[in-house]
Amino acid sequence: MEASLTTTDSNTDDFFAAVAEKSDGTVLRGDYSKIDARYVVKQDWDAYTPEQHALWRRLYQRQAKLIPGRACDVFIESLEALNIGDGIPRFEESSALLSKATGWTLVAVPGLVPDHIFFEHLANRRFPVTVWLRDPEEFDYIVEPDVFHDFFGHVPLLFNPIFADHLQDYGKGALKAMKLDGLSMLARLYWYTVEFGLIQSPEGLRVYGAGILSSGGEIEHCLTSPASLRLPFDVERVMRTLYKIDSYQETYFVINDFEQLFNDTAPDFTPMYERLKALEPLAANTLLPGETNLPLK
Ligand code: PHE
Ligand code: CO
Repeated sequence: MEASLTTTDSNTDDFFAAVAEKSDGTVLRGDYSKIDARYVVKQDWDAYTPEQHALWRRLYQRQAKLIPGRACDVFIESLEALNIGDGIPRFEESSALLSKATGWTLVAVPGLVPDHIFFEHLANRRFPVTVWLRDPEEFDYIVEPDVFHDFFGHVPLLFNPIFADHLQDYGKGALKAMKLDGLSMLARLYWYTVEFGLIQSPEGLRVYGAGILSSGGEIEHCLTSPASLRLPFDVERVMRTLYKIDSYQETYFVINDFEQLFNDTAPDFTPMYERLKALEPLAANTLLPGETNLPLK
């Protein structure tokens, strides 16, 4: 979903060791032979096959059916404006639309990139999008983020000006956190907001997290399953909470609106990192005494 979640080190040599061989013995996907200093490549749209465009359409159509009544408004509206249902989008075209709306641009990358590279892009309002598409066997589940997750899941939200500003601040904050040994905490914030966040709306709970929006199963699970918790968003609580990388989330954090996300993350986190380092992180399914699991209806 994002670089910091799988490569915890900021060191580029370590990253390339991970490209060569991950801890589970598999190789990180993507062609890193043509990257520039920022890990940016050309999208080479002409190289996508008709089969790949057809797979994109299938992925798109499945998700598009699940979106009404589940995704937040800005996602639905921006997805429509992007007009990307017919095949793998041309990044340059969408980037032009996006930059008119919020000043963000899209850059093509071969796959996961080192943390500091990823955060540098965000801090400069550039969103890295992976160029490769999953194989048909991976229709339901993908271990590393592909172009469908990165594009379909993340790009529509960047049309919201407040969310767009927040993500830039996150990038700057993450570069700072690297120096303060706070990145594991900030990665939890990203995970429980940008990837798996829920938001209140007048019509009920809605999804804004990209990891959910690009998932065929979790989009229904997160809104309806009593097996998971839904807690009011609280920065410090989020940064203390471990997350699941190989199953649906056991806890979701719910924001009232994007202003809350922006305002609550604006203060200097330096003292918070210090406080949190002294505490044990909480398991993903923790409900502390006094906390309320938000009712489903
Ligand atoms: N306010 C945070 C800090 O001072 C930076 C930040 C902003 C982190 C937005 C996340 C999101 O470190
Ligand atoms: Co992601």
